[in-house]
Amino acid sequence: MCGIVGYVGDEEAAPVLISGLKRLEYRGYDSAGIAVLGKSGLAIRKSKGALKFLEEKIAGELKEGALNGTLGIGHTRWATHGEPSDINAHPHTDVSGKIAVVHNGIIENHAKLKEWLISHGANFRSETDTEVIAHLLNFYYHGDLLKAVIEALKRLEGSYALGIACEDEPDRIIAVRKECPLVAGAGKGENLIASDVPALLEYTREVYYLEDREIAVLYRDRIEFFNAEGERREKQSSHVEWDAAAAEKGGYEHFMLKEIHEQPKALTDTLRARIKTYATKTINLEEIGFDQSWANANRVVIAACGTAWHAGVIGKYAFERFARIPTEADIASEYRYRNPIFNPRDIFLIISQSGETADTLAAMRMAKKNGNRIIAITNAVGSTLAREADLVMYTWAGPEIAVASTKAFTTQLMCIYLIALQLGRLRETVSDTELASCIEALEKLPEQAEQILAGKENIQRFASQQFNKAKVFYMGRLFDYAVSLESALKLKEISYTHSEAFAAGELKHGPIALVDETTLVTALCTQTALFDKMDSNIKEVKARRAATAVITYEDVDYFDKTADQVFRIPRTLDSLSPILSIIPCQLYAYYCSVLRGLDPDKPRNLAKSVTVE
Ligand code: M6R
Repeated sequence: MCGIVGYVGDEEAAPVLISGLKRLEYRGYDSAGIAVLGKSGLAIRKSKGALKFLEEKIAGELKEGALNGTLGIGHTRWATHGEPSDINAHPHTDVSGKIAVVHNGIIENHAKLKEWLISHGANFRSETDTEVIAHLLNFYYHGDLLKAVIEALKRLEGSYALGIACEDEPDRIIAVRKECPLVAGAGKGENLIASDVPALLEYTREVYYLEDREIAVLYRDRIEFFNAEGERREKQSSHVEWDAAAAEKGGYEHFMLKEIHEQPKALTDTLRARIKTYATKTINLEEIGFDQSWANANRVVIAACGTAWHAGVIGKYAFERFARIPTEADIASEYRYRNPIFNPRDIFLIISQSGETADTLAAMRMAKKNGNRIIAITNAVGSTLAREADLVMYTWAGPEIAVASTKAFTTQLMCIYLIALQLGRLRETVSDTELASCIEALEKLPEQAEQILAGKENIQRFASQQFNKAKVFYMGRLFDYAVSLESALKLKEISYTHSEAFAAGELKHGPIALVDETTLVTALCTQTALFDKMDSNIKEVKARRAATAVITYEDVDYFDKTADQVFRIPRTLDSLSPILSIIPCQLYAYYCSVLRGLDPDKPRNLAKSVTVE
């Protein structure tokens, strides 16, 4: 997730921008840049990597006063289009170099706009989607930046928060947002914009939260607000009471809770750009080059670790269900040492949030060496996995700071479903009707995830009754078994509770020996054809005095008489249910961790990215 800052006032802008960007570092980034408007025009400085590299780059100029100027915009970039590099770092400028733009979000129609702008003389330098905005503004600029912004917005599809400065208008910054956060701060003789409140707190606690498609025009002494049509708006500021540390977490107590709540937005970002509407809705994976050449594969082999492997297990069911292709989901550390049998017609799907997990990379390299083509699903643009794979599908979940993976998991699932369905189309195993109903169901998931989050108090209450349980088991069948694996991992890694997952049919083959009155068994029940089997399993553990909970659909009362507690999720297709059913389990793990007095963001003995064996 990128970070934006902007300043107009009486102080030198560059140090203000750098200090604001530092306050946004928690959001994660891979490059940074600033544009300062001084006497000799816009000065732009950018650097790949940590902010300190940018600071080192400009240190001399700051001393000499060569970067003087009291208006500027700054940016920390989390790469989505184009690898992390100086060129791809923001701000981006138009052909004249007079208009500078910083951007957070994804411009979905950037390819079309780029083509059109090139035909009108634009000369692109970066691989970013953002650069189209700068050229578009140039196209519409006839002496009034606000008018140009209003015209450009009409052409932009996707999500954005923008900070814009123009050499010919040295007294103002323009800011606008759609589906990405942006706040304006009102200081004394100075005004600022930022992606998040912490970057403003040093200067002001009076902030304006911009609404979707609302435009803020910041001068030294005032901020004016307009709607996207250019009509003036009155707006009330809010007073911020939080301290900086709380503000970084957006008011949430922990990053994990914040990231759990970010899932609806992350799922929307992952999905939206990949669904195209012409006459009907279709999946478009052209951006990653997923074409007919992948259709006559023999098998799909998935390799990953931890949570990403659990996504892979769901992938196995999804590929077999939709594309009718034999699929294996392997733990990467096992795969690399078991002398596997390769077939050049196998598709390798490698899943990794970080794109840097040592075992996962080793499995990928083995497959490559044996002539296999690799599809990567990752959250990290420019990661080793992204660079070495043949095709990359980004999850676009934004940086995940908490060690326990949440939004990375659900967005990995979204990517898997899209690839599985598209492969099904290419192999003619998914009909038009089935595709239409799956797309409709996928599109509902973000809102349905929001509904589950709105009922989080039920989970919190349940956790407050159960958090001291000695053993917690999760069980389910098919897709629900895979969600059980992930639920047990979440609980054990952040609450240190002994938790295990079982395929429910395996219960009587061993695990039931562990079940007694100290056990909580949570049954995932979303596979409609197997409700009666699950009901029997729940009765079996109840008979051994275990406490029981069920996660099922809102319209199912099948388990009401059997289980002690039933949690309901919105109705979706059984094959897509994991994206929803995992959310109550994430919340349960989070609340147990907090109730046990632990820090869910930093569990003991664990690292966010395991780059060694
Ligand atoms: O970055 P990766 O997705 O490759 O990481 C894989 C695992 O290390 C990771 O999912 C780990 O299991 C998390 N702590 C789970 O919450």
